[in-house]
Amino acid sequence: MTANTIKGLAILGSTGSIGKNTLEVIRKNPGRFRVMALAAGNNIAEVAAQIEEFRPEFVSVATEAGAVELKKALRVACEIGYGIDGSRIAATHVGVQMVVSAISGAAGLLPTMAAIKAGKDIALANKETLVMAGPLVMDEVDRCRVRLLPVDSEHSAVFQSLAGHRREDLLKVILTASGGPFLNMPSDEMSGVTPAAALRHPRWNMGRKISIDSATLMNKGLEVIEARWLFGLSPGEISVCIHPQSIVHSMVEYADGSIMAQLSEPDMKGPISYALAYPERMGCGIRPLGFAGLKLDFSEPDPQRFPCLGLAYRALEAGGSAPAVLNAADEAAVEAFLNGRIIFTGIYEVIARVLDRHKAQKVVSIDDVLEADAWARQEAAQVIRGLTS
Ligand SMILES: NC(=O)c1ccc[n+]([C@@H]2O[C@H](COP(=O)([O-])OP(=O)(O)OC[C@H]3O[C@@H](n4cnc5c(N)ncnc54)[C@H](OP(=O)(O)O)[C@@H]3O)[C@@H](O)[C@H]2O)c1
Repeated sequence: MTANTIKGLAILGSTGSIGKNTLEVIRKNPGRFRVMALAAGNNIAEVAAQIEEFRPEFVSVATEAGAVELKKALRVACEIGYGIDGSRIAATHVGVQMVVSAISGAAGLLPTMAAIKAGKDIALANKETLVMAGPLVMDEVDRCRVRLLPVDSEHSAVFQSLAGHRREDLLKVILTASGGPFLNMPSDEMSGVTPAAALRHPRWNMGRKISIDSATLMNKGLEVIEARWLFGLSPGEISVCIHPQSIVHSMVEYADGSIMAQLSEPDMKGPISYALAYPERMGCGIRPLGFAGLKLDFSEPDPQRFPCLGLAYRALEAGGSAPAVLNAADEAAVEAFLNGRIIFTGIYEVIARVLDRHKAQKVVSIDDVLEADAWARQEAAQVIRGLTS
């Protein structure tokens, strides 16, 4: 590989689970990528170590205080920024061809949009970008002629299962879900679930927010909305199937009854390396799947025990501002649960009540999306206060 073909990367959320897995994929493929910019939150020690190893030209952290601390800790030259502007600068850095969008939550939206507008290809882990602003983001992707490649394992599997097929032959997309740590828990025990238990995912080692979303199945709901925009599907064309082993990462069913699926060991380095190298494939250290003794189970999700999934379909059907409201209410509710303010089943209560109070508005700009997000956080705070008093 020549110097001309080395791909310049910005990694937003470099200190998180996806960010660290991305750096691991880069380590395993020396000479193929150059880390030009990083954006992280508050983990200054981790980002300092990443700068020493990868020598990016620009790095942003969440706060000014963090930036000062980072500058003091550094032994190599690197330009440092902070806050949303810093993430934007990292996302649009001149030497970057592809941005790995892996900040958690709504904070990922603006830098990802900035990267698209700057003509960067996107490896998208931050599903909130499409949940909050799907039509606006996809319009911008078309207008700026950039590639938006999924990193979510389910969407990567769908993307791979769509390759070489005609859209008009597609019957439906089937997103698989592990079911999380409480797949078989009776509903009357769910109110007693602790944050520590909810964070222990049986298959995937992920950040805190997505781990809780996986336990409520809201993560799958967010993925349904993400799939709707990424692949131009109607809600009726997207179904969810429980598959506890997380080997089949998702499937596409076609008119002749054929189902295309993508299988591998559950390891995020797979979809990350696929997005980074697309349309090529490269090694990433995942062990091959052994078929001897392989057991694959599938079942329907239980809407009574996992009602958050239904809320996501409801928001998707309502359209406009409703998915952004769903997302913000969920972020607020998950934080309240992790801080011990509400019980596990209260997460559903908070989101459902905020959605009940919301009349979906047309969304024509990112400002409209941010307004809906702010409104939902305010309403959620009120509902949470009501639940705790
Ligand atoms: N983990 C997975 O397997 C997985 C799979 C599919 C999709 N995703 C999606 O990928 C995204 C990241 O997930 P994750 O599990 O990697 O989360 P995570 O481990 O919690 O990491 C989040 C990253 O975002 C950074 N961050 C948070 N707020 C920030 C802000 N305001 N400005 C700049 N950086 C900020 C964090 O920095 P600090 O740690 O330094 O504070 C960290 O680097 C989420 O949208 C998730 O839904 C994750």
